[in-house]
Amino acid sequence: MSEIGTRLLGLTGESVREGGSAEGSGPGPQAGAAPALTVAAGGPAAALPLLRVEGLRKVYRSAAGEVMAVDGLSLEVARGETVVLMGPSGCGKSTTLRCLNRLTEPDGGEIWLDGVPVHQLDEAGLRAIRRRIGFVFQHFQLIGRMTILENVALGLAAAGLSPRLVERRARAALSRVGLADYAQRRPAELSGGQRQRAAIARALALEPDVMLWDEPTAALDPVLVQEVLELIARLAREAETAMLVVTHEITFAARIADRLLLMEHGRIVESGPPAQVLGAPQSPLGQAYRQLLLARLEDGAALARLGLTPAAAAGPVAEPSGEE
Ligand SMILES: Nc1ncnc2c1ncn2[C@@H]1O[C@H](COP(=O)(O)OP(=O)(O)OP(=O)(O)O)[C@@H](O)[C@H]1O
Ligand SMILES: [Mg+2]
Repeated sequence: MSEIGTRLLGLTGESVREGGSAEGSGPGPQAGAAPALTVAAGGPAAALPLLRVEGLRKVYRSAAGEVMAVDGLSLEVARGETVVLMGPSGCGKSTTLRCLNRLTEPDGGEIWLDGVPVHQLDEAGLRAIRRRIGFVFQHFQLIGRMTILENVALGLAAAGLSPRLVERRARAALSRVGLADYAQRRPAELSGGQRQRAAIARALALEPDVMLWDEPTAALDPVLVQEVLELIARLAREAETAMLVVTHEITFAARIADRLLLMEHGRIVESGPPAQVLGAPQSPLGQAYRQLLLARLEDGAALARLGLTPAAAAGPVAEPSGEE
């Protein structure tokens, strides 16, 4: 197997931290600047991409040395667009997502959300903008002592909504993910798929402008992966919300992405519609993904020989998660 093929399967993946809390409370790269809630120069907001990232950089420094996790990355996501970000384990996908709402502090670059310079915001500005950015993590990060309804309501209450509106919106979000009847359960009383759906409801309840998804199915039992993938696909189809999805599930990516971004060593190496990136890839990474996709399609052919369709089979084959 090629080196890239090996890394795609996560066999040499480096360990990755994950968490929902802000990494330190230090100021941002340009902290102190006023949270200028103005439209960027150059035209009306409607003509701009909803999310625009320019030259994003993040270096992790420790006693062991420096890791250039994100190396001058630029990307855009338009309103209503679903963009899927894929790349080998350790290439900087999670770091990129976490820099976008500054859960991880970038070392450089610009992040614009709907004309707001996220890279310049102070703490108050950041709190406000984070309500417009939904984040779904690999590990659900629900609060165990609270009910599902309380978990979903928490962010809404923090946003200052009235208790009645909080409950109405939290219940509506739970309905959207098929958990209306589970509102009073605690996370431990749900399956992994249901827990992730609750975490998705928590993000949706805030009616964010953009949803960031960091391997939302990677921690799930393979049998439960499909229910969450189907939910994400439905949200991508229905919702106005822009989505930036990190996943290793290549067939899913090919199905839902308006645009596919391939990332390696902290940079985007290829981007375009899935038909272009996976149909006629230009980069070695794109070619490796194409091979992976073709192998998946052969799996489908094997099922057909058994008289099965993928949907009729017991569950989907787990995609390489890159993280065990
Ligand atoms: N807090 C941290 N301190 C030091 N290095 C880190 C930290 N978080 C991530 N890294 C390193 O930064 C690089 C990018 O990590 P990141 O988690 O963004 O990768 P990833 O593409 O999300 O990988 P995966 O597919 O395995 O989740 C890796 O080399 C990783 O080891
Ligand atoms: Mg990651």
